[in-house]
Amino acid sequence: MCGIVGSVSSKTNIISILLDGLKTLEYRGYDSAGISYIKDGNLIINKVKGRVKDLEDNIKKESNVTIGIAHTRWATHGKVNETNAHPHNVGNVTIVHNGIIENFSKLKHKLKEKGYEFKSQSDTEIAAGLLDYYYKKYKNIDKTIQKFIKKVDGSYAICMLLNNDPDTIYVIKKDSPLIIGKGENINFIASDVPAILKYTKKYYILEDYEYGKITCNNITIYDKDGNVLKKDLKEYQGSDLSSDKGIYEHYMLKEILEQPSTIRKTVNPYINNIQDLLKLPDLTKYERIDIIACGTAMHAGLAAKYLFEQYSNTKCEVSLASEYRYQNNFLNNKVLSIFISQSGETADTLAALKKVKEAKCDTLGIVNVKESSIARTLDKVLYTEAGTEIAVASTKAYTSQVALLSVLALSNAYRKNLIKEEKINKILEEFRSVSSILNSLLESTNTYEKIAKEIYQKSDIFYIGRTIDYALAMEGSLKLKEISYIHSEAYAAGELKHGTISLITENTPVFASATDKHINAKTISNLKEVISRGAKCYLITDEDIKEDNIKVIKIKKVSMFIKPLLTIIPYQLIAYYTAKLKGCDIDKPRNLAKSVTVE
Ligand code: G6P
Repeated sequence: MCGIVGSVSSKTNIISILLDGLKTLEYRGYDSAGISYIKDGNLIINKVKGRVKDLEDNIKKESNVTIGIAHTRWATHGKVNETNAHPHNVGNVTIVHNGIIENFSKLKHKLKEKGYEFKSQSDTEIAAGLLDYYYKKYKNIDKTIQKFIKKVDGSYAICMLLNNDPDTIYVIKKDSPLIIGKGENINFIASDVPAILKYTKKYYILEDYEYGKITCNNITIYDKDGNVLKKDLKEYQGSDLSSDKGIYEHYMLKEILEQPSTIRKTVNPYINNIQDLLKLPDLTKYERIDIIACGTAMHAGLAAKYLFEQYSNTKCEVSLASEYRYQNNFLNNKVLSIFISQSGETADTLAALKKVKEAKCDTLGIVNVKESSIARTLDKVLYTEAGTEIAVASTKAYTSQVALLSVLALSNAYRKNLIKEEKINKILEEFRSVSSILNSLLESTNTYEKIAKEIYQKSDIFYIGRTIDYALAMEGSLKLKEISYIHSEAYAAGELKHGTISLITENTPVFASATDKHINAKTISNLKEVISRGAKCYLITDEDIKEDNIKVIKIKKVSMFIKPLLTIIPYQLIAYYTAKLKGCDIDKPRNLAKSVTVE
């Protein structure tokens, strides 16, 4: 996580460029922010605990600055305070860093023996110390960086200024993303392309163990042995550059309401007729599908597991990437591994993907960001078309992932002759009407606000469901926890009585969805069990259910391939209105970040 931006120009004042870039990158972390620049030969560092706007207040009047680096932090080592904020300066070297220096304790010890002293608890200050040490020793920056790459374990995207070299920014990269933007008499560095799109669409991607030297009119990139590399200059092709909240109070609400169009855009190439559906990759040769992802993306995988297994008779295992990467994965050429990621940069997902690639097994991705590290590493990618998602709690990216996986499962079922053509055509027709079906559900604002009022002061809330509804319960519960800070648990409805039911007391809210007609009655029975113990129940269902003490939120009767896209809407909006009533920072919840580029 953490966002890095840098710029060097011949005469443009780069302060507002760095601040703009940091604001765009705040989704990567927002614990503290800092900037460093060289002006009239003097190195200046300004850091704040807090948001980029606080940093802006300190430095916006600064003029005639032509070289600088900046950072927005998600704390890994050391508390959230000004001392631990980046940039870190040691001797001649000032750096901003994204990643984790894993052997920092050992390096710190060695540097202390050489007489170095450190002010912070940050691993980044040690990296700065090591670079300074080698620079003093070798008096040669190439040798310094090459030695640094050899000695440091862990992940790093580093942007560096040297006091005695006021015209150059140095960059080094391993396992954390970094791009270099090319302008006219000005160049840029950033963790992610959107941070510099206002100024250029042209950029180089730095790969692992590469380093670079950037001046206002020159970019040179080297491999770890110092050989100059000839890299492709990329041009950003995306169209959705807008990160404007428009009329909405929060990005999250805007993004929830965008779902009818983002889902439609994502599945559009595959839903006009069966020929279109067959444009999706043929998965019939695989005996098992593994889905690997983190957070909300993993929940999308859990919903898809049900569809793959139930309708296309294909075994599907879903794993958290952070677990998968250290497990025995039982891979063979009959297994397809599907990786799901909104950002395309999640460190654990990327590491798990590299593991499958090393085993030479097939990979397919469901990714939202083109040219991201995960997208570039996959054998095949299907892109979700959710556009830029700004709110940390994922909504429109999730539904795009579920929709794409759903049409993939549908095509697999058709290819395996498990669903008749007539039925497929009906489901495709429903996909084509998905926008209007969702719009009517999104409009029931009063219902969600009313429920939010009933629950916002509670301290424990439960979400239950069976099969696909259990997957939806997990996502519903996560949304509430992330943004409202209310403790909640998702449980398989049938499992509650094996322990957790002891936590149900008078008026404990319990949410459930029952959308699978074969087992809905069982979920209703489980609700009755908690009602007997005082729970207050809310049920999302497409059936005509009228039960005392259960408040029903009705969704339209549609195919199972579409239903999860409907079920999640009330959960998202109830979480949103609950967090709003609590006065929470909805788009930037405490301790979280949107792009998680550390293990
Ligand atoms: C973070 C975000 C979540 C996201 C997860 C996986 O935890 O806050 O919203 O689901 O990372 O991210 P990815 O970009 O791989 O989908």
